[in-house]
Amino acid sequence: MAVGVFDSGLGGLTVLQAAQARLPEVDFLYYADSAHAPYGVRDADDVFELTQTAVRALWARGCDLVILACNTASAAALRRMQEGGLPAGKRVLGVFVPLIEALSERQWGDNSPPREVAVQHVALFATPATVASRAFQRELAFRAIGVDVEAQACGGVVDAIEEGDMILAEALVRSHVDALKRKMPQPQAAILGCTHYPLMEAEFQAALGADVKVYSQGALVAEALADYLTRHPGMLGTGDRGYLTTGDAGRVSDRATQFLRRQISFDGV
Ligand code: DGL
Repeated sequence: MAVGVFDSGLGGLTVLQAAQARLPEVDFLYYADSAHAPYGVRDADDVFELTQTAVRALWARGCDLVILACNTASAAALRRMQEGGLPAGKRVLGVFVPLIEALSERQWGDNSPPREVAVQHVALFATPATVASRAFQRELAFRAIGVDVEAQACGGVVDAIEEGDMILAEALVRSHVDALKRKMPQPQAAILGCTHYPLMEAEFQAALGADVKVYSQGALVAEALADYLTRHPGMLGTGDRGYLTTGDAGRVSDRATQFLRRQISFDGV
C-alpha cells in the first residue's frame, strides 16, 4: 500500500521527508521526472502533459492517491486534471492549499469568505512557470483580502540544485532575494513556492533576515495529508514503496542521498 509522490526531480523529497516523519506507518512511492526537469521553464501545456504521464504511471502502479509535490505541476496541471475527470477511485492533490491556509490562518476546509489576515506584505519565490500562472495569488484571493504579494521568478535555482551545484544555487538565491527586496523592501513573510527551495531554506532565511517568517511546504503538506488519510482511509492504495526516476538512477540516487543524508536508491521507471 503506497501513496504516490511526484515531482519533476529532487524537490519533492522535501515533502516526502516531512510526510514520512509525520506518517511513519504509511508507504510512499516517489516518482522524479528527472529526464524532463526543470519544469519551471516549460509552458503550461508541456507541464500538463508531463505531469499527467507521471500521475498515470503512479496510478498504474497502484497508488490511488498521488500528491503533486511540485508547485509548477500543481499550477499548470492540477485543476486541469481534476476538471477533465479522474478515473474511478483515483485522486490527485497539490501543494498550494495547505500553505495558503497557514498563511491566511485557516483550518483545513474553511471555505468562509476572504478576510483580512495578519500579514500584508508577502514575498513569493517560485519558478518562472509558477509565477506566470498567478495560481498562488488566485488561491490566496479566495481566502484573504489586503495581502500584497510580490513574486520573484527564481530562474536557475532548480537547475543548480539538480546538478548538485550548491555554490551556484546559493549565489542565485542571494541575487533573487536582492531583486525581490528592490521591489518590496520589507516583506513580513516569504513563501518558498517551489519544493526544491527548502533545500536552500537557510540561505533564503539568511538573505531575507531573521525577522521575515519563511513558509515552506513540507510539514504543512504532511499535516494536510494526515488529515486527508484520516477522512479517506481507503486511499492508501495497493502499490509498493520505492523511488522511481525517468533519469539516470545512479546519479539521482547520489544526489538524493546527499540531500536527505540517508541512503536513497532510485530505480528506472
Ligand atoms: N519542485 C518543483 C516546484 O515545486 C520544481 C519545478 C521545476 O522543475 O522547475 O515547482
